[in-house]
Amino acid sequence: MAILKIACMGHPVLARRAELVRDPAAPEIRRLVADMLETMVDAGGAGLAAPQVHVPLRVVVFQAPGERTDEGLIAEERFDHSAPLTVLINPEIEILNEEREGGWEGCLSVPGLRGFVERPAHIRYRGFDHEGHPIARTAKGFHARVVQHECDHLDGILYPQRMDDLKKLIFESEARHWVKSNE
Ligand code: NI
Repeated sequence: MAILKIACMGHPVLARRAELVRDPAAPEIRRLVADMLETMVDAGGAGLAAPQVHVPLRVVVFQAPGERTDEGLIAEERFDHSAPLTVLINPEIEILNEEREGGWEGCLSVPGLRGFVERPAHIRYRGFDHEGHPIARTAKGFHARVVQHECDHLDGILYPQRMDDLKKLIFESEARHWVKSNE
């Protein structure tokens, strides 16, 4: 395994559409996934898409930590807020309803910054893991956000392009000041 170099905003590999993976279970994909996981963990990211390591293929990895919520106590809860470490190849996203939710995002390809992004709150996604097994899940909360963020990378989209209000694009180092003045 190897820690790979991460491309930053401005590198053309982040602006193009990534290619479909012909065989998700191929040995070279397995190697790519292993390196992406090691790179994501080393960089402290919640997710990583193959174009971020200069590979224009439709592969993402992510991990969504659980959020503190009381909703889990209500029976309605068939969506996941948290996600186990997931490898998703050739993903497809379906938006389940019109509801949108705002949240702060960061990206290993846009280091040092945070931005407030509104996205569909409830999604279903499908794809394959690196053994070729199909994956199909519904997601909401941070889980839905991280999947959409990572899959955007496969279409050449970085989160600032999803922002409605660029006043909410800030440096991490100023976040505490921003929070204080917007309380
Ligand atoms: Ni990103």
